[in-house]
Amino acid sequence: MPAAFTADRFSVAPMVDVTTRSFRLMARVLSKRAMLYTEMIAADAIVHGKQHLIEFSDIELPLTLQLGGNDPQKMAAAAKTGAQMGYSAVNINAGCPSDKVQQGAFGAVLMKDIPLLCDIFQEMQGAVSIPVTVKTRIGVDNDDSWEFTLNLVQSLVAAGVKHIILHARKAWLSGLSPKENRTIPPLDYARVYKLKQLFPQVFFTINGGISNLEQCKPQLQAVDGVMLGRALIDNPYLLAAVDRNIFGSSAPQRSRAECWADFIELAASLRAQGVALHHFARHLLGFFSGVRGARAYRRFLSEHMTALGADERVLAQAFTLIEHPNT
Ligand SMILES: Cc1cc2nc3c(=O)[nH]c(=O)nc-3n(C[C@H](O)[C@H](O)[C@H](O)COP(=O)(O)O)c2cc1C
Repeated sequence: MPAAFTADRFSVAPMVDVTTRSFRLMARVLSKRAMLYTEMIAADAIVHGKQHLIEFSDIELPLTLQLGGNDPQKMAAAAKTGAQMGYSAVNINAGCPSDKVQQGAFGAVLMKDIPLLCDIFQEMQGAVSIPVTVKTRIGVDNDDSWEFTLNLVQSLVAAGVKHIILHARKAWLSGLSPKENRTIPPLDYARVYKLKQLFPQVFFTINGGISNLEQCKPQLQAVDGVMLGRALIDNPYLLAAVDRNIFGSSAPQRSRAECWADFIELAASLRAQGVALHHFARHLLGFFSGVRGARAYRRFLSEHMTALGADERVLAQAFTLIEHPNT
């Protein structure tokens, strides 16, 4: 595996309004090795000087900046800014089907103009020395045949793309909401496996519907990397096993209670920087998923975290509702 992609063996999917800085700091308490992503950021915003949107701290590394846009020059300029700031990689969003993204003619729409997608990639990769990667799907609307996916991947590879993240279902651009577009089109993992066999030199990350670490193991025998999204919203503690189970780290897995002490510290330090408790605490709603007391904990936390002046004492109180926090 090329050294540049080591962390990509396990990545946390880019998710708007989820993978914010506070989420990523929470994730780093749990895994030092996983590749993290920003939310999708419009290249336009960066080009127009809103660099504060992509600030991060070194502790969040390895970290990939995901960009949305369809103008090769602007995408390249935004990538350059990201590279100068120290991001590990830059990713092109070519899979998001939301209305807003469609109006801007990027995201999944880029699958309808593969030459443009390749131009964007080449302009960006020409501007930076960190990897530029592409996150896309296996098809869009009625362009969902094996031949379509093959041509998409073949074109990207010919353009020089070395890492492709495939959400293993197609996107419907009209009639389905983004949420439905993550459940209704069927998953086709076998198609991704076949692509890996045809292009063994390319790093393929598979994404879509993976709900725990046991399911990652067989995937990693067929492809190079796995990317999980919603499973980590529902149960972020899954990340605590990643360094050991996926990356072979010898450090023992930390219990939820051990991680919790770090979260209290983190919440206090974020509050000192003016970040309201709920921006951080909302990422912890699923942290005790499957543990006795989790429902009461979740209810307490959601009721109290948004109160004016709420601080880490709310976290400490919520924690007392968990019966066996050392699991
Ligand atoms: C709330 C939410 C926001 C998302 N935002 C983005 C995004 O900004 N960029 C992107 O490429 N995909 C986005 N996605 C899609 C995920 O990255 C991922 O491809 C998808 O959820 C499938 O993976 P999963 O089944 O593991 O959740 C989002 C998904 C969710 C649930």
